[in-house]
Amino acid sequence: MSQLKTAHSSSEDFPPVLALQNICKNFTGVRALNNVSLNLYPGQVTALVGENGAGKSTVVKILTGIHQPSSGEILLAGEQVQFATAHHAASAGVTAIHQETVLFDDLNVAENIYIGHAPRSRFGLIDTQAMRQQAKALLDDIGADISPTAMLRDLGIANKHMVAIARALSIDARVVIMDEPTAALSHKEINELYVLVEKLKSQGKAILFISHKFDEIFSIADRFTVFRDGGFIGEGKIKGVNESELVKMMVGRPVDQIFPTRQPDLGNEILQVSKYCHPTEFDDISFTLRRGEILGFYGLVGAGRSEVMQSLFGIKRPCSGTASVDGKRLEIRSPADAIAHGIVYVPEDRGKQGAITTLPIFQNVSLPSLQQTSRRGFIRLAQEFALTRKYTERLDLRAAALDQNVAELSGGNQQKVVIAKWLATQPKVIVLDEPTKGIDVGSKAAVHEFMAELASQGLAVIMVSSEIPEMLGMSDRVIVMREGRMVTELRGDSLTPETLVRHAAGIGEE
Ligand SMILES: Nc1ncnc2c1ncn2[C@@H]1O[C@H](COP(=O)(O)OP(=O)(O)OP(=O)(O)O)[C@@H](O)[C@H]1O
Ligand SMILES: [Mg+2]
Repeated sequence: MSQLKTAHSSSEDFPPVLALQNICKNFTGVRALNNVSLNLYPGQVTALVGENGAGKSTVVKILTGIHQPSSGEILLAGEQVQFATAHHAASAGVTAIHQETVLFDDLNVAENIYIGHAPRSRFGLIDTQAMRQQAKALLDDIGADISPTAMLRDLGIANKHMVAIARALSIDARVVIMDEPTAALSHKEINELYVLVEKLKSQGKAILFISHKFDEIFSIADRFTVFRDGGFIGEGKIKGVNESELVKMMVGRPVDQIFPTRQPDLGNEILQVSKYCHPTEFDDISFTLRRGEILGFYGLVGAGRSEVMQSLFGIKRPCSGTASVDGKRLEIRSPADAIAHGIVYVPEDRGKQGAITTLPIFQNVSLPSLQQTSRRGFIRLAQEFALTRKYTERLDLRAAALDQNVAELSGGNQQKVVIAKWLATQPKVIVLDEPTKGIDVGSKAAVHEFMAELASQGLAVIMVSSEIPEMLGMSDRVIVMREGRMVTELRGDSLTPETLVRHAAGIGEE
């Protein structure tokens, strides 16, 4: 049952405010969209669903004037329009929060929000004070506790995303597009985003919502549209479908979202972390990890999980405590040190820290494994390709060719390249930070299966995740962190959704 019915539930009788008809989009060698249509109605949330590479972000870019369609029509309130530039689309009232946020590290928060449409004084100069006040009001409105004068560079990924949302809202829009808006947000911020979506709906705005999370789609959307391989598959009211029907439309076959059954065969202790402390991020972290084990780290965003892992990988420096691999105490001063000792970290913010998007897929994947593929200094192309193929196939990568630049891949497929790259180094310990974020249902199962298989071959895995089903389905045991500390370790019967949430939030404790 939808609790989200509002006074605007009758607005489905209205014609769409924005419609795409028979849109095609070709990139060199790739037909990203083939005759698709899409209808967005006032006061309604339309979920656009499809696998990684289905064409969702391409549609967003066409609607916001970043790309031009190769053919087809865009109708705004029934009139044919062309969005020749991003500015055109914005002045027509179409605004978007993109999958890869386009913000400027060297500007402050208010400047990022108002760049291109800052309030001006009588003399035509940018009215800095008004801009900051308006930015503050917008941020307050979406529940983001961020100073308008903070430099963007100094914000974490979730806060950057809130700035992107504020920017989208600073334009008085008729159509608001959100391309995987919750992928970078914490539980608290996600709830605030949902409240915001309700508010936008009640103001009669049309919302296009892209997500790979079905619980979210079913609680927030009024309608759905499905794309597969750049083609239009269907549309309708969300009340008229269930999850497995929607998945089947997306993937073209039923997908059972069951986790691989594992008989963990635990080897010797490979990693030992003892009394890790950091002045601001975490305190007194001690744990061990065995070969073949999958150890989950659960907590709310901000609990310090990623920071612990970054210390293990030499990105952050703990002020005290030790880490040992195979009984040998390590000095990890840089990622190169960590890699040399067989520890790799696949970061959550894969966009920034992950791939070199101007290089082809095969070079990205083989880059840290060059010892394996080069002989007497010559890089053996065939081996680079073979290595890349082996890992990308297992992760269900969808690309036209392995020498395609990563920039040309869809968001989810870029993430698979980053995961493949680190797995290909054949580490002893791999830390996966939110491994399936932004990855579609079908590919998710592929990633999980590959993880399980590598563990069964002796790889020790640490998985940081905010997804409870993934935590329960994949981990042999789970360490829960809260406010920089380990609060409990759960396994077996004590590992349930309730215990995870209760410990992570500190509910029901003295
Ligand atoms: N600039 C480009 N040059 C070449 N091909 C591109 C370009 N941008 C996108 N594509 C291709 O278009 C197709 C659709 O990509 P798109 O980013 O729209 O997928 P998506 O549905 O948003 O996927 P995801 O869920 O992974 O974000 C993919 O095959 C992608 O490789
Ligand atoms: Mg996308």
